[in-house]
Amino acid sequence: MSKLSSIVLLFTVLTWTGFSQKRTSLDDDWRFHFGHAANAEKDFNYSIATIFSKSGGAAKTAIDPKFVDTTWTKVQLPHDWAVKLPFVYSDNFDVISHGFKPVGGLYLETSIGWYRKRFQVSNSSKNNRFEIQFDGVFRNASVWLNGFYLGTNQSGYLGFSYDVTDYLKYGEDNVLVVRVDATQYEGWFYEGAGIYRRVWLHETNKLHIPQHTVFVTATPSGRKANVSVALEVENKNLTSDNCSVYTYITDRNGKELTRSSKKNLQIGAPRKTDASFNLTLNNCTRWDLENPYLYRAVVVVEKSGQKIHQEKVKFGIRSFEFDVKKGFSLNGKRFKIKGTNNHQDHAGVGAAMPDDLQYYRIRLLKEMGSNAYRASHNAPTPELLEACDSLGMLVVDEQRLLNSSPEYLDQFERLIKRDRNHPSVILWSIGNEEGWIQKTETGKKIAQTLLTQQKIFDPTRTSTYAADMPNEFNGVNEVIPIRGFNYRQNAVADYHRDHPNQPLIGTEMGSTVTTRGIYEADKQRAYVPDQDITAPWWASRAEEWWVLAAENDFWLGGFIWTGFDYRGEPTPYQWPNVNSHFGVMDVCGFPKNIYYYYKSWWTDEDVLHISPHWNWPDKVGQDIDVWVNSNADEVELFLNNKSLGKQVMPRNRHLKWKVPYQAGTLEAVAIKKGKTIRAQVKTTDTPFAIKLAPSVEKMRANGTDLAIINVSVVDKNGLEVPVADNVIKFRVSENAKILGVGNGDPSSHEPDQCAPGTWQRSAFNGKCQLIIQAGKTAGDITVEAYSNTLQTTKITLKQLP
Ligand code: GAL
Repeated sequence: MSKLSSIVLLFTVLTWTGFSQKRTSLDDDWRFHFGHAANAEKDFNYSIATIFSKSGGAAKTAIDPKFVDTTWTKVQLPHDWAVKLPFVYSDNFDVISHGFKPVGGLYLETSIGWYRKRFQVSNSSKNNRFEIQFDGVFRNASVWLNGFYLGTNQSGYLGFSYDVTDYLKYGEDNVLVVRVDATQYEGWFYEGAGIYRRVWLHETNKLHIPQHTVFVTATPSGRKANVSVALEVENKNLTSDNCSVYTYITDRNGKELTRSSKKNLQIGAPRKTDASFNLTLNNCTRWDLENPYLYRAVVVVEKSGQKIHQEKVKFGIRSFEFDVKKGFSLNGKRFKIKGTNNHQDHAGVGAAMPDDLQYYRIRLLKEMGSNAYRASHNAPTPELLEACDSLGMLVVDEQRLLNSSPEYLDQFERLIKRDRNHPSVILWSIGNEEGWIQKTETGKKIAQTLLTQQKIFDPTRTSTYAADMPNEFNGVNEVIPIRGFNYRQNAVADYHRDHPNQPLIGTEMGSTVTTRGIYEADKQRAYVPDQDITAPWWASRAEEWWVLAAENDFWLGGFIWTGFDYRGEPTPYQWPNVNSHFGVMDVCGFPKNIYYYYKSWWTDEDVLHISPHWNWPDKVGQDIDVWVNSNADEVELFLNNKSLGKQVMPRNRHLKWKVPYQAGTLEAVAIKKGKTIRAQVKTTDTPFAIKLAPSVEKMRANGTDLAIINVSVVDKNGLEVPVADNVIKFRVSENAKILGVGNGDPSSHEPDQCAPGTWQRSAFNGKCQLIIQAGKTAGDITVEAYSNTLQTTKITLKQLP
């Protein structure tokens, strides 16, 4: 052997046995094309070529690595193809409930999506193990790598991964192909379509810790905590192997606090072995809603004294309890669960929500005073849970279907293993409103099987089920540890009387339908007044349910249906209405008036809010219903400095005045514990300029950071014009890109995504929203908003290296 080749060999061996673990994002540079659900030729020959007869090839299809995809559209993940499609009228229930987008079995041309991506792996990685992880694809995704079929994942919500070590090529292109079949729905709400969450490539040693097998449980007792870390080590080598494993815990700054001793493991080939460690932490900081403190448990696998694999898991130390008499408590502190239900789409981007948007939305909910989030009715995106962990928001994590078949037991197991280390998760939900079975013996048996599954994979928590049943017990309710009520709030007290030992929670409550900034019902445009007035027959107004939940100890609290409006479920109207009105905030996250009802009783902050706006030129002299939301002790209302009377503020309720309209200033002056608080609404002038309020001033040039820019139309005094509907156009410098636009109008058919150079959106009652994503080169980003009749506005955001 020459000297040079022995040096090369030595170097290669070192890299083989050394620490070469990596997680690489595969979100960039995909190509996308629609297939066809009924025409095989238009589906790249999918159902006429011999895809499954021989391994490693699928000639004449898009699966073939040599297939030329240069004419396909370039896309970046997360990608939701449904959001870009036009709205189409239909009288089919499922199309209506999915927001009138042409996706599903009726739309053969726009329900199959093909994705292709090339990536390279270096030659030096040849002896490692590789896994491709999809965080969520809607839905029925079949995956091939270099022509090899990897598998099909049905769920549109749960992530999945494949070991691809055998198929990888090193130092040359690998071709990953995904066929997504969205012809079936899983829900009755907008679900998006495509690879709408992130995709990762994991590189590890063949001796490694498989994903989601580390389970950290922390049991606090006073200032101490016992931390148990259980894990698996897998040997994917062809011969048995040995290694040692240990664990250490760090604080959130990475400072090591305690370390276990090493355990030596001998693992057959290919095999898995369990290991576990118990550690004690002194003087620990609890994870709570105000200070969501996260520790890290680091598990290290060593071979011959060298680190070969490491898993870092964030965890929190907290205790919680659901007590039928005392209610919910976290770390011994009692409080009501003030929750919201949410689906997972936002203005502009649909279901393809970049990570920053998850944080943005959780912050908005927290500002309202909400402390809990129910991921209805499906596994959330991993980054949503990370946002809840790090911002301090409790979570009910929900299984899509109440079903104990192998497919759904497997989904439940994957959900629990993926999410059980998140301190924010306090409760699993095994299902929602399963009308066929919830009252039956079959439903009860399925529930029992799922509850057993839950205890196997997570003995530290319990489960609920969201039942749309009044005071009824037979079926799922007989066995569910925490009884969930969807609506039927007036039956809760009777149920509690009859079953006094079962804690209960409002899994779906309230559900006033409101359109932001609208004060008269309008059947034609499908708008409902923006006050706590209108609720569907099965639901209740905010003030109906919250009074019950707040004033009765046997209510643990509840979850509003919903925190944000979402696409689909246009209730109480249909076309042209394309999204729900249930949100306390609209699809952009702009608060509706009911937001201030919740905020006044869900926070200790000073809240004083007057509605409606004060621009009613056609109503001079006519009575206007003025609502005041506040948590003050008393409120006095003035119109143009003339008192309209003082009222005592009843707890958990609102105040109302009838005020003959006259332009000018309506002012509320409130006294809260001796302190004076003031709020005003003023008649504005006509639209004059555009105001841009970005969520951040600085982004990193990483291609993923977001700026959510709230846009308002203001008069010449800078007051937002509450009826403005000007069309606003947007331009952003080339070092960033616009992801989407929205305005919260539930009947708008304007596109959320526009062709380059044509971005625009009309304001809806004074506001719209622009979402910008960072580019990859540092430098200032300029954002310009202009309109034919308004003064142009330009802002600069910093993009840091
Ligand atoms: C509930 C259901 C929700 C949503 C809501 C609309 O019954 O669980 O998903 O459909 O009704 O009011």
